[in-house]
Amino acid sequence: MQTHLRGRDMITTQEWTRSEIDTVMDVAFDLKRKRAVGEPHAYLRDKVLGMLFFFSSTRTRVSFEAGMAQLGGHAQFIESTTTQISHGDTAKEIGEIIGRYTDGIAIRQCDWDFGNQYIRDVAAASRVPVLNMQCDVYHPFQIMADLMTIQERFGREGLRGKTINVSWAYASSYQKPISVPQSLILLMTRFGMNVRLTHPPEYKLMPDILEQAKENARKSRGSFEILDDFDAGFKDADVVYPKSWGAMLTTSDNTESANIGKQYTDWITDSRRMGMAHEDAVYMHCLPADRNIEVTDEVIDGPQSIVYDEAENRLHVQKAVMALTMS
Ligand code: CP
Repeated sequence: MQTHLRGRDMITTQEWTRSEIDTVMDVAFDLKRKRAVGEPHAYLRDKVLGMLFFFSSTRTRVSFEAGMAQLGGHAQFIESTTTQISHGDTAKEIGEIIGRYTDGIAIRQCDWDFGNQYIRDVAAASRVPVLNMQCDVYHPFQIMADLMTIQERFGREGLRGKTINVSWAYASSYQKPISVPQSLILLMTRFGMNVRLTHPPEYKLMPDILEQAKENARKSRGSFEILDDFDAGFKDADVVYPKSWGAMLTTSDNTESANIGKQYTDWITDSRRMGMAHEDAVYMHCLPADRNIEVTDEVIDGPQSIVYDEAENRLHVQKAVMALTMS
């Protein structure tokens, strides 16, 4: 267990060592048990988290806010449009000023080719830890919750040799960020998993992220492969994680991206596809999902779906990171 994490930013899991991520999991499992048996755990009494949102949220907002209350502290909901950010407060000013009022700054800024740099600029000016609640490149707390959920299913040491299919799926609601698949392939390749990335040719991820995933897989003696056939991605997988993302690396035009997607409306997860995976395979999705477009009700509400455990585990991993970095 690592005990030197006070003051650390969490912008991507890639900047934390494997041992540090294991520590987050140790603390998250302990906090989950404590909440289940009603054991108080007010490790952050009188501490304040400033949560700055540039983009809508259900799970992230509610779980961070509930988590801070359960740790004995307080979380402030700050929306960019109702602050002076809209009139010119800079990232440096936000880091300097909110960092003097609070004990941690959490930010969701998903604008393409901007969000991650914004969070890093705030972090550079802040005296308190900065937590990435999702940017254009990474969604670290989602993916740590996913790791915890997979470990619950297969055992803490049981991931080696298991196959996860991180797949694109069609959605019509909006051009979703690429931060979830990118963070998934980065983290799961560090745990010896066989990581499969499946997408149509227009839905590529960032080349440097692919290189890091390959290197992670080499070091952990797992594997990393890229497929372009939706059905083939499901074959014998232990974990299937099909979700939509925008064609960010093909076009910066949202309408063009939406039109490209219309070629692939048959990339929907249904029971026939689930039948191609391992018989004990689990279905995961970070949510929100486009029901009956990305995935059928039968699958997302069916016995192989673990989406609600996955959503719950956001609370526990976030509390773990806050307790470790903000105490
Ligand atoms: N999965 C996720 O981040 O959910 P929200 O967008 O609702 O926060």
